[in-house]
This record gives sequence, structure tokens and C-alpha cells, in this order.
Amino acid sequence: MLSVPPLPQKPAIKSLAVLTSGGDAPGMNAAIRAVVRYGISAGCEVHGISKGYSGLLAGQIFPLMASSVANIIQRGGTLLKTDRCEAFHDKSVRREAANILRRKGIDALIVIGGDGSFTGAHLLEKENDFPCIGVPGTIDNDIAGTEDTIGFDTAVNTAVDAIDRIRDTASSHDRIFLVEVMGHSSGFIALDTGIGGGAETVVVPEDKLSVPKIVQTVERGIRRGKSSSIIVVAEGPKPGLATRIAVDLKKRGYAPKICILGHTQRGGTPTAHDRLLASVLGASAVSYLLHGKSAAMVGVQDGKVVLVPFKDVIGKKKFTDRQLLELSKILAI
Ligand code: F6P
Repeated sequence: MLSVPPLPQKPAIKSLAVLTSGGDAPGMNAAIRAVVRYGISAGCEVHGISKGYSGLLAGQIFPLMASSVANIIQRGGTLLKTDRCEAFHDKSVRREAANILRRKGIDALIVIGGDGSFTGAHLLEKENDFPCIGVPGTIDNDIAGTEDTIGFDTAVNTAVDAIDRIRDTASSHDRIFLVEVMGHSSGFIALDTGIGGGAETVVVPEDKLSVPKIVQTVERGIRRGKSSSIIVVAEGPKPGLATRIAVDLKKRGYAPKICILGHTQRGGTPTAHDRLLASVLGASAVSYLLHGKSAAMVGVQDGKVVLVPFKDVIGKKKFTDRQLLELSKILAI
């Protein structure tokens, strides 16, 4: 069971700020709420920063009360808004960010986001001795050092729900559907969605399947008597794979339909799982900072909350489970 590390007797900091950065993910609001309320109960002042690192540089920093985060746990998106900030790649810009935080009397920063956002936090801390902790928030679940990320479960549920709907029409018309899901370079969303949605084929970047090979698996299903097929395709780093597969299928006489789920997977009501995960990780980030810990991400390993140094997280590849990938193939026969 997930549990929050107990608070220290003597807190190492008095004031902290929280921001969300990168792509939004359902459950980010639950994490913000946990940071604010756990921080305040531990005697800390909590500030919110609008629009990620861009808002930080623009000084968009404001105090948050327990009431500021009322009625948000069930809402998708992020109350604080988010951004991908190019300027933060610059060392002098990060120095300015640390100065802005210090001038506001803020002792530490919690960054809710993914790998790129953690890189910013890591450098901000390393270069300016400003304590930062990361909370993994991305639908992609592609962050090393944690088995789960905030938003992943919701995105998978959204995609599975879409597949259930698509299957009704696919089987009514005896059609092949290519359903493209998000995940950038990783196949976590595709794999879980494919298994959960009973897909005939799951295409993930990690598998490195060629288009002809994918077409072969679809044809094998048809030979076995399947009149309709759902092929779940991870978007991959280079968009257009679903279209390339469709072109090949058309050449072989099929008439596949393409459905790109896109940003529908990023929005919507977070699942109970994501709300719980976000609440525990948000509160744990506060607890670790009060213990004087930083330069790390809070994560989940073997079902327990852990603190993983940024250096073991950033730029590290997390692979989809091979056994699960094999299972998706076996169950699709
Ligand atoms: O990282 C989350 C994610 O939704 C990826 O799955 C996707 O490739 C990317 O963000 C889309 O980003 P944008 O918000 O720029 O469209």
C-alpha cells in the first residue's frame, strides 16, 4: 500500500512553491491539492506558480490557501496551467529563476511533470543550490525510477473506452480499425490499452515491427476467421505510422479506418487510481522537502513510495514489459 513518509520534528524549510510543467495529465490537480494542504498542515507557506517555468520567469507566483484548491480533485487539466519553456534551457535564465524564488522568500520548489521538466528542476538546483523535488505527472508513464505516473491510468481508461465504442461499429461493418494512441517514444499506453481493449494487434515503438510484419499479423487474424480487427498503434516519435500501415493494407485490398485518439487522452476526469497516486506523491514530495531531501523525484517502486535521485531518472529509458507484450500477442489469437 502507498503511504506518505512521516513528517520530521524540525522542518528543513518554511516556504515552498509548486508548478506544473510539460504536457498536462489528469490527476495533476489532485497532486497540487495534496502539496498545498499537506504543506499547510505541516506549517509551511505554499505558493503556486502559473504556467510552469515561463510563469516562474514572469513572476506569476501567488500564495495558495487550503480553500484555493477546493473542488479540484475531480478535475482534469491543471489549475496552475502548464507550458514547455524553451528559455529554461539557458543557464542564466535558471539563475534568474532561483533569484526570483528567493526574493519571494521561497525555500524549495516542487515540479509536477515529466523528464524534460525534471531536467530543468535538476539544473536549477545543481547550479543555484535551490532545493527541488519532482512529482511524475505524464500520461505516457515513460519516466524511469517509477512504475506509475499521474495521468497514465486515466489515459488508458479513456483509450479503452474509445476502443469499446469503435469495436461496436467495427464488428457491425466487418472493418479493420487502426487506433492511434499517445505515448511519444514509449508504448506503455498502447500496450495497456491493447490488452485492456482486446486488440488484435498492438504496435509499440519498443517492438520495432516493420509495416509488412504488422500487415501480416492482421492478415493472419483474417485467415483465422476474424471479420473485424482493432490494431492499437502507439504514435511513436515520428507521427504517421497508422497512416503508413493503412496505405499498405489498402494495397492488399483492405479498407481500414484510422482513428487518432490524440488529446482526448490528456483530458477528462482522473480515475480514482490517479487521484490516490497524485495525493500520496504530492504529500510525499512535501514530506521529503521538510526532511531536507531534494534533487530527486518521488516515485513508486514495488508498490512503495520512494525517492529517486534525478540523476537516476533523467534521460533514462524505461522499457515496456516484454512479457506483457508477448501476452498481448497470445491473447489476440
Ligand atoms: O507527453 C505527453 C504527450 O501527450 C505525448 O503522449 C504526446 O506525444 C505529446 O505529449 C503531445 O504534446 P503536445 O501537448 O505538444 O501536443
